[in-house]
Amino acid sequence: MAQTGFREFLNDLDRAGQLKKITKPVDPRQMSALGSQSPTATLFETIEGYPEWRVATGLVSSRARLAIAMGCAENRIAFEFEKKSANPIDPVTVDSAPCQEVVMQGEEVDLTSIPIPLMHLFDGGPYISGTFAVSRDAEYGSNAGSYRLMYRTPTETGIDLVSPSDMRFYYQRALDRGESLPIAIAVGVHPLDMLAASYKAPIDTSELALAGGLRGEALEMVKCKTVDLEVPAQAELVLEGELLPIGWTADEGPFGEFSQISGDVKWNPIFRVSCITRRKDPIFYMLQMPWENDWLAAPVTEAAGLQALRVASVQAVDILAPVGACGYWALVASIKKRPGEGKNAVAALLSVAEVKHVIVTDDDINIHDPDELDWAVAFRVQADKDAIIISGARAKHIDPSVKSWELGKGGLPTTAKLGIDATIPEGVPRSMYRRIKNYAKDRVRLEDFE
Ligand SMILES: Cc1cc2nc3c(=O)[nH]c(=O)nc-3n(C[C@H](O)[C@H](O)[C@H](O)COP(=O)(O)O)c2cc1C
Repeated sequence: MAQTGFREFLNDLDRAGQLKKITKPVDPRQMSALGSQSPTATLFETIEGYPEWRVATGLVSSRARLAIAMGCAENRIAFEFEKKSANPIDPVTVDSAPCQEVVMQGEEVDLTSIPIPLMHLFDGGPYISGTFAVSRDAEYGSNAGSYRLMYRTPTETGIDLVSPSDMRFYYQRALDRGESLPIAIAVGVHPLDMLAASYKAPIDTSELALAGGLRGEALEMVKCKTVDLEVPAQAELVLEGELLPIGWTADEGPFGEFSQISGDVKWNPIFRVSCITRRKDPIFYMLQMPWENDWLAAPVTEAAGLQALRVASVQAVDILAPVGACGYWALVASIKKRPGEGKNAVAALLSVAEVKHVIVTDDDINIHDPDELDWAVAFRVQADKDAIIISGARAKHIDPSVKSWELGKGGLPTTAKLGIDATIPEGVPRSMYRRIKNYAKDRVRLEDFE
């Protein structure tokens, strides 16, 4: 039986009443606006100008749908992710694959044959948002990440490789040798594979094995046709090619960003496509910015936070990467605290790559209730003792407050980070936080007096 992939997940959504099918012909420039109006995922079955294609969107633009992908309750996604990522399973190579039913090489390569959508008002052009990008470095091994590709010509796209990442590092190493970097981009993979790709795994950790761990079985890969790489066999579409050795010199953007901002023009490398492979009846994945990206980011950031707390020997009770901070920029955790661990927990969580703001509180606070969190911050914090500020830490370009436009081409910004220890301070008895309760509350009922 074929391994579960993108279209099997669409079937799962359909069975759960989470997929709307639209048969009326739709213009690719209107798909994003239409899909974003649906409370469920959407499958466009007739695309004007692209008779062979269907387009799916909004697959994981809610925590509920991500929970279907993970096969667990919504509030267990991060814990499940962390548990499964501890047991990676190496990928296996298969001989033939659905993603290579159609092969277009050389003169046949034409990116305009794919319904790449125009998604947002200020975008610099149509772009591919839901990618599983594979690369390899002789020393560090295979890597998978997710990077957006903006259309340039029928054989070229840009690639948003502006932020620090393992693939950016691999590309820099290729540049230092004066070489291009072969890459392969799979589009239309299972959300578990997308989660693995977007995880900030240590550089020597394989996201492909992580995808296997999340799935509970080895991810099936197939050899590419024109580059020495492998891609997930069940993908809908694959672009093979190379990142040209030109560095961060080509303008790309703006992109509708996962920060909910229409970004700036960036300086990025160019991806030259040598081969397009796909299924006979392909489904293009139009990953909706920002929500689908943010719901994918949140559990990945939360799992990284859980790991950091584990290494710091702090017992986490709950953790949340609020979607308001776009899944990357903030972490809130409740812990079972021993003296001093509020600070240790803050320091551990601030170490997670993009996390900029952290709040740590005790296990009596429901961190999913903003009012309870405000209460904890109001009454458990003395700013001169409980706020930790770190200057000059790693940052993402798309946060306007880091002023990345002041950097030169290829430059990397830095940011300040703030952590708040909102646990009950040492020396203050827990009884001082006894919550207000009405006299006779448990003995009288209003309806008896009506
Ligand atoms: C849907 C999606 C799109 C993303 N797009 C980009 C992007 O365009 N540029 C980027 O630097 N990171 C992007 N990311 C974040 C990276 O995929 C993430 O940092 C990942 O860990 C990088 O992997 P690597 O460090 O192993 O290369 C995206 C993440 C998701 C989920």
